[in-house]
Amino acid sequence: MPAVRIAPSILSADFAKLGEEIRAIDAAGADWIHVDVTDGHFVPNLTIGPAVIKALRPHTAKPFDVHLMIAPVDPFLQAFADAGADCISVHPESGPHLHRTLQTIKALGKRAGVVLNPATPVDAIDHVMDMVDLILVMSVNPGFGGQKFIESQLPKITELRRRIEASGRAIDLEVDGGVDRGNAARVIAAGADALVAGTASFEGGPNQYAANIAALRDG
Ligand code: DX5
Ligand code: ZN
Repeated sequence: MPAVRIAPSILSADFAKLGEEIRAIDAAGADWIHVDVTDGHFVPNLTIGPAVIKALRPHTAKPFDVHLMIAPVDPFLQAFADAGADCISVHPESGPHLHRTLQTIKALGKRAGVVLNPATPVDAIDHVMDMVDLILVMSVNPGFGGQKFIESQLPKITELRRRIEASGRAIDLEVDGGVDRGNAARVIAAGADALVAGTASFEGGPNQYAANIAALRDG
């Protein structure tokens, strides 16, 4: 398994100075920049769209890990690719044809991810394992930062790790929601190799970012 990657979610950054925040979290050791896109319809919150991602793109060379919580999703894939997304992850529930959505992301030259909500079974990805570059396990219900980690997702992470190893493909296994320095070790032990963290990355302000990221990485 590769070293654990830390993907701070900018949902917890100071939106009044996002460029500065991205530069600070990059310098603090972030591996990927996790961008949560919501539409107030698929999930009950409104965040940011492609224009903001495009504006942020020059502020870091780190990959943009874009988590789309919008429905329909297909009409917007091109815009997120053009804006500078490196990996685009989608929920099976956000469009009628997951296979087609993944085909489109791959055709745009981007890494493709599938996101499993807490109640979504692992079987949802059975027939697309050959197309995905990343599986994202939601350990909260999507929409908001700062929620409590749902413990029942730990065995699901382990089952997905087993399936990834069986596939023989280099698929990243990322976990998103309520991840902090108190549970990161257990999430990694369960099989995750990438951790999203909003609150736990940005708490305490810029002087704390490097220590926050190190604490997550070390579990
Ligand atoms: C929730 C988002 C998460 C969230 C994580 O819809 O997908 O990325 O911002 O925030 P924390 O780490 O605070 O739970
Ligand atoms: Zn997310």
